[in-house]
Amino acid sequence: MAKNVVVLGSQWGDEGKGKIVDLLTECVQGVVRFQGGHNAGHTLVVNGEKTILHLLPSGILHKGVECMIGNGVVLSLPELKKEIEVLEQQGVAVRSQLKISGACALVMPYHVALDLARETKRGQRLIGTTGRGIGPAYEDKVARRSIRFTDLLDPEHFSDLLQENLDYHNFMLKNYFMASIFDYTQIYDETLALADNLLPMIADVPLLISAHREKGYSLLFEGAQGTFLDIDHGTYPYVTSSNTTAGSACTGSGLGPRYVDYVLGITKAYTTRVGSGPFPTELTGPLGDALVELGHEFGATTGRKRRCGWFDAVAMKRAAQINSFSGLCMTKMDVLDTFDTIQIAVAYEKGADNFYGRAPVKPIYESMPGWKCSIAGVDSWAKLPDKAKAYLKRIESLLEVPIVMVSTGPDRKHTIQLEPIF
Ligand code: GDP
Ligand code: IMO
Ligand code: MG
Repeated sequence: MAKNVVVLGSQWGDEGKGKIVDLLTECVQGVVRFQGGHNAGHTLVVNGEKTILHLLPSGILHKGVECMIGNGVVLSLPELKKEIEVLEQQGVAVRSQLKISGACALVMPYHVALDLARETKRGQRLIGTTGRGIGPAYEDKVARRSIRFTDLLDPEHFSDLLQENLDYHNFMLKNYFMASIFDYTQIYDETLALADNLLPMIADVPLLISAHREKGYSLLFEGAQGTFLDIDHGTYPYVTSSNTTAGSACTGSGLGPRYVDYVLGITKAYTTRVGSGPFPTELTGPLGDALVELGHEFGATTGRKRRCGWFDAVAMKRAAQINSFSGLCMTKMDVLDTFDTIQIAVAYEKGADNFYGRAPVKPIYESMPGWKCSIAGVDSWAKLPDKAKAYLKRIESLLEVPIVMVSTGPDRKHTIQLEPIF
């Protein structure tokens, strides 16, 4: 039966969404990215070969699968062109598979400058953004002054919009941030050159989604970032500038909410976060360093070291509520192979039930014995040691959401499928 399945991060990003979307693409005819921009870094490993995607949907390596960039995504044209060219060199026919919504707001060079200038001005209180201009691009969208992909079809109209935007942003850059300003002609020429290259892929994404449905095809909706980086439900202001949670799959693509059949939450077997902001279970000593090293926890976009800590079942319970998870995929189980004891945060002290307040919360932990053997690459439940099974079962009972997939390594094939999703 045809299904629309949403796949998204349930922590602070980098849960392994890319790997799982790539794997599940074998069951669908199309994949849609619905929010975020090239702040995302999604890693796919197929037969040992690694591909990192930032804007392209993670189904792109599957021949013939239609990959769509929905209206909720903020689009950097130079970054998209670069990404397409790298894949084309590897023999992937990106241009025949990719469709881009005309309603995508563009990330322009001045957005990047504003992002960096804002961070500098925040000093100690910096967000730790990826510096890709994502926040300022979404601000323009909400302020109704964005240049959208479709605006490039009419160069005169684009010229007017660019002039208005530059008047405004150059004023801010020069007078408020004391930063360099941008030249109209250079941006105009560069953007229209990129438009010539990319506009052939413009499409009416809601219509395509509807056509897939009429044909009885299945689709995947791929999220970027993670639940607690959501602009509304995350650890504000230490968040990204889009909605990363399940509802965004509809608003960011044009899929009607009644047509979502399944929401798959991706979660690591522990927790990581890049950038500033609250992180109740963070480990700053040798245990945290061990997780960084064993999990190779360095960002796929900026190369920054990720902060690491234990699994936070309190936060995850909130993620399950907000996203209405149908099932969970637990990734990076193999990273815990060598620990004597593994901790799970089951509550916060003083009855706190979230970490949104300004006062830090202190987790109360439950300990589980480690399995102390390698499960790297294990692809069946039967081959998992009992203690690893017990860890998964405990988390399942704490969250009251079934774990339907377990990942034991970066490669597509290092995966245990417990229940069918399609
Ligand atoms: P995404 O942003 O959610 O797509 O995740 P990233 O690609 O940024 O980060 C996940 C990292 O973990 C990547 O380097 C993956 O190759 C790797 N990875 C994914 N699943 C597993 C797993 O089960 N075990 C191990 N050891 N690595 C994994
Ligand atoms: P994927 O899709 C992890 C974080 C940044 C920063 C905050 C705001 O690979 O999981 P932004 O540049 O979006 O304004 O930065 O959000 N962040 C991510 N952290 N994974 C990501 O994407 C992220 N995208 C943004 O580190 O804390
Ligand atoms: Mg990532």
